[in-house]
Amino acid sequence: MKPTKDEIRRINQVQRDFFSGLIHVFDPPLPEGVPERLEKIVASARINKGETVLDVGSGTGILIPLIRAYQPRTIFACDLSEAMLVHLRKHYPYALAIAADVRNISLSSESIDVVMMNACYPNIVDKDSSIANVSRMMKLNGRMVISHPMGKSFIDSLKEKSPFPLDDFPQRSEAQDLFEPYGFEIQDLIDEPRLYILVAVKNDRVERYHE
Ligand SMILES: C[S@@+](CC[C@H](N)C(=O)[O-])C[C@H]1O[C@@H](n2cnc3c(N)ncnc32)[C@H](O)[C@@H]1O
Repeated sequence: MKPTKDEIRRINQVQRDFFSGLIHVFDPPLPEGVPERLEKIVASARINKGETVLDVGSGTGILIPLIRAYQPRTIFACDLSEAMLVHLRKHYPYALAIAADVRNISLSSESIDVVMMNACYPNIVDKDSSIANVSRMMKLNGRMVISHPMGKSFIDSLKEKSPFPLDDFPQRSEAQDLFEPYGFEIQDLIDEPRLYILVAVKNDRVERYHE
């Protein structure tokens, strides 16, 4: 069921407050194996030199230097939490940071080659509008990578203590139902105990954008 505007605003504010107090958790050193799995996650986007990348729910920017290694022309980073982005701007001044809910960002249509969403998908309250907006901004044959370097089940361990709702990462059939209406084809799904990577490619079959 689609959440109301008030509900989206309320939960986003709870998340903003929560993540603003957690910035240190995202600083290196990261848990064992995570740096290598983050490299694998970014590699799965097959970023080409000169492309434009959007990191959704970028947080403090853990993916930004890994993305930069592929020499994209532009890196956008979007997050609800301004405090997270202060940290990101300080460490990665070459990334263009946007403090907003991904459902509302207004980058040009068909301007983005790659969208990364690491450890963020379960947190997005209005998934329909967010995926619709991502689809609108993406070029044909663009790649959307939804991932978590600790795997799908890690979210279960967070749910009990989380002050806001967290959704599960989708399995392949659910992902098809969720993303195909927005013009995505599921290209790859890795679902291991400590790694989740879903790669969806934007094709030309868009049935609906904004509702
Ligand atoms: C668990 S953190 C992950 C941060 C980063 N991607 C990483 O891997 O370290 C989730 C982030 O998603 C952001 N977020 C949640 N919902 C969002 C939305 N609708 N639009 C943009 N950012 C969002 C939160 O503010 C938070 O910084």
